[in-house]
Amino acid sequence: MRKFLIKQWLKEKQFFWEARTRIFAWYVGLTAVLVGVSIPIFTELAMIQVDRRVKEDLLEEIEVFEEFKRRKDTQEGLAIIFDYFLESKIPADKTFLIATINGQFYRSSPLSLPQAISQDSPLIKKLAQTRKPIRGKNLIIDSQFGDILYTAEPIAIDGQVRGVLIVANIPEGERREIFATILVVIKVLLVAFILAVIGAWRITGRVLKPIRTLIQTANAITETETDLSQRIPLRGHGEMAELAKTFNNMMNRLETEFHNQRRFLNDVSHELRTPITIVRGHLELLDYNDPQDIAETIPLVLDELDRMGRFVEDLLLLAKAQTKDFLILESVDLRELTSQMYFKMRGLGKRKWKLDQQAEGTVILDRQRIIQAMMNLAHNAVKYTKITDVIALGSCIYQDQVLFWIRDTGIGIPSQDQERIFERFTRSSNNQYISKGTGLGLSIVSAIVKGHNGRIELFSQLGTGSFFTILLPIQRDPAVNIDDRC
Ligand SMILES: Nc1ncnc2c1ncn2[C@@H]1O[C@H](COP(=O)(O)OP(=O)(O)OP(=O)(O)O)[C@@H](O)[C@H]1O
Ligand SMILES: [Mg+2]
Repeated sequence: MRKFLIKQWLKEKQFFWEARTRIFAWYVGLTAVLVGVSIPIFTELAMIQVDRRVKEDLLEEIEVFEEFKRRKDTQEGLAIIFDYFLESKIPADKTFLIATINGQFYRSSPLSLPQAISQDSPLIKKLAQTRKPIRGKNLIIDSQFGDILYTAEPIAIDGQVRGVLIVANIPEGERREIFATILVVIKVLLVAFILAVIGAWRITGRVLKPIRTLIQTANAITETETDLSQRIPLRGHGEMAELAKTFNNMMNRLETEFHNQRRFLNDVSHELRTPITIVRGHLELLDYNDPQDIAETIPLVLDELDRMGRFVEDLLLLAKAQTKDFLILESVDLRELTSQMYFKMRGLGKRKWKLDQQAEGTVILDRQRIIQAMMNLAHNAVKYTKITDVIALGSCIYQDQVLFWIRDTGIGIPSQDQERIFERFTRSSNNQYISKGTGLGLSIVSAIVKGHNGRIELFSQLGTGSFFTILLPIQRDPAVNIDDRC
């Protein structure tokens, strides 16, 4: 039962698929392979080293003998030289010096020899006959002492080979020492490996903690659906901190968008509720038998329905402004466009209309949308001026921009409202008793201008008037020359 529950828990936690488990498994695997491979390699290299050193020692013994021989009078004969040498020389531990003369064992130091290289052994008999030096990896196995390495050097006197000096060594002792050292190394490596494994588990846990927090936060947001206020605590630097920062920024944007959307829906429903209430109220009170009442109510109801229709159209336009095919660009003659707009605007109301300036040249823009934006501005200008006020329109080209403006001598806009009136459903405090617009006009202007990658500038003062300028980057029509004057 316990086993089953543990299995179930591992499955639920997706233990085996967690990044931490996988990174950890890779780390442990790689470290284990490295340690596992390095120990035999290390052992083998150490053994090679021991053998090489033993062989060097053997050759050194021969060199010492040659040196000794050179200093002796060779007339004395080889037997005397061997005697002097073997008596004066104490061989190193586990080293044997064996002298043969005329193919026969002569003497050795120390006197007792292992079985495999004893005076009657086939090896010594064979080596006693050699006329050539025997070096390299020469090995014989003794039943008691194991491996024995040897070297045989023929000794010549007056150009004649008279005897052989055999040097042998049992490397077992040194090998055992090396094994003991390797055992210590293995123990140390094992402890280091266990410590590294524990460290790796903790470090991977700590490194991946922001990801877990990220998942938990994302899950918490998904569960609560509407609470977008949760954030990941920022700690340290590097990719993880960057990831947390990016996630938090994304959440900030989502939260703002979510609030905007909610406010937008509230505003839309509020704006639609008013005309619906008016229409409903009038229809409920309508006396169907009274033709005069019908004649008075119908235009009123139609007017409210018109207003609703316009409102829905404005909303659709703003929604469309987010799409790619919002603009239909064409080559437009600025002088002709300005004249056309001026003509249209004059129909909006009786004011002192003026045409300040007309740009010369042809540029590429969406003619209908620009007219729509300018008509919105003109509409506002009419709304917030009296019959005696001036409203002027103008256009010009300045450097790489085309400018369109509408200025009026109306009520003006308080400076604290000048930025926010471009937001949807936002209206300034200046018009409380003047108009009952929806507050979408300037956001439409703003969307159209943004679609052209342009910007709007506003200069306004309460009681003096307002000056709206649209500045659009020019997409020059290459076929036509532009007159740069403003
Ligand atoms: N020329 C202007 N003079 C004074 N105030 C202005 C002028 N143009 C805009 N405003 C202020 O900016 C606010 C926002 O204008 P916007 O055109 O977006 O909305 P609206 O005119 O109130 O309604 P809508 O245009 O949607 O019918 C207006 O309510 C008004 O307070
Ligand atoms: Mg308006």
